[in-house]
Amino acid sequence: MTNVEKSDDRPAVTVIGTGEMGSAIADAFLRGGYPTTVWNRTAGRTDALVSRGARRAATVHDAVTAGPLVMISVKGNDAARRILEPAGDALAGRTVVNLTDGTSGEVREVAAWAADRGARYLHGQIMTIAPGVGHPEAAVFYGGDEAAYELYRPALGLLGGRGTLVSADAGVPALYGMAVHGTMWGMLNGFLHAAALLSSEGIEVRRFLEHAGASVSALPSLLPSIADEVDRREHAAEYGALRHHLPSVEDLVGESRARGIDDELPGYTLGLVTRAVGEGHADDGYSRLVDHFGRR
Ligand SMILES: NC(=O)c1ccc[n+]([C@@H]2O[C@H](COP(=O)([O-])OP(=O)(O)OC[C@H]3O[C@@H](n4cnc5c(N)ncnc54)[C@H](OP(=O)(O)O)[C@@H]3O)[C@@H](O)[C@H]2O)c1
Repeated sequence: MTNVEKSDDRPAVTVIGTGEMGSAIADAFLRGGYPTTVWNRTAGRTDALVSRGARRAATVHDAVTAGPLVMISVKGNDAARRILEPAGDALAGRTVVNLTDGTSGEVREVAAWAADRGARYLHGQIMTIAPGVGHPEAAVFYGGDEAAYELYRPALGLLGGRGTLVSADAGVPALYGMAVHGTMWGMLNGFLHAAALLSSEGIEVRRFLEHAGASVSALPSLLPSIADEVDRREHAAEYGALRHHLPSVEDLVGESRARGIDDELPGYTLGLVTRAVGEGHADDGYSRLVDHFGRR
């Protein structure tokens, strides 16, 4: 541990970038009683935080040297790196927590750049919108320097009650975030297609849920077995073989067409199932379709 990186109960925290998310982050530290320094390209966007007790830094260098823990949340990882550049060697021995969304590759570039300057580095993938920051249920996936994570765990805990270090690799949290969002969009698109189908019959979607909610809610409970099948590369048909899925998907496409409902989504599913069955996987479970998505 260097002399700038000493642990105390409430180390000085710097927040660079006080847009919607950065302001929520700085607010969480202020509420937690942490000495908080803020810097933003448009200085006026720090006014509200200053009125609540934050110190405004005149320059990025000034902001970085205010304490051992430097958080950054801006639009784009290129911007994050360019903003930190003037601080240069002042980053040595400090911990940079980058909370800027991006691809795993973009995040790893910032991590390598920060490591070259002697900084400890964590990437944090925030899984909530700004008003959710600090909520006990808010998840933040961290990746990077484990010692830095442990050192600042109490401070990081202020951002969300479900913060977890998921990897020593700073790029991994970005993938976790995308995996959650991808799953969410797939599920929501399926539900909204179903909602359009029901609405076309004049059925209230809420009423459908009263009757069929248990069937819908049971679906996430299948995920652990599907995950195991993917990891083991074994596709036992525990929850229905693809040959059983096929006629149901055909019906969904047919029903959608008959009602003038967009059939692209079920049609896509039909294409996947038909191809897998055609390739000899009729008796496999649904997890077999992971091969279509290009698993290596
Ligand atoms: N808002 C949310 O609910 C939410 C939820 C999850 C994740 N996020 C993530 O949080 C990060 C910040 O988003 P936000 O919602 O706070 O965005 P925002 O309200 O639009 O603010 C953008 C921030 O980035 C700064 N910025 C952008 N380009 C810059 C540049 N070239 N040089 C210097 N500063 C630059 C802005 O400075 P100026 O004020 O000077 O323009 C501002 O501080 C993003 O990665 C976003 O995906 C946000």
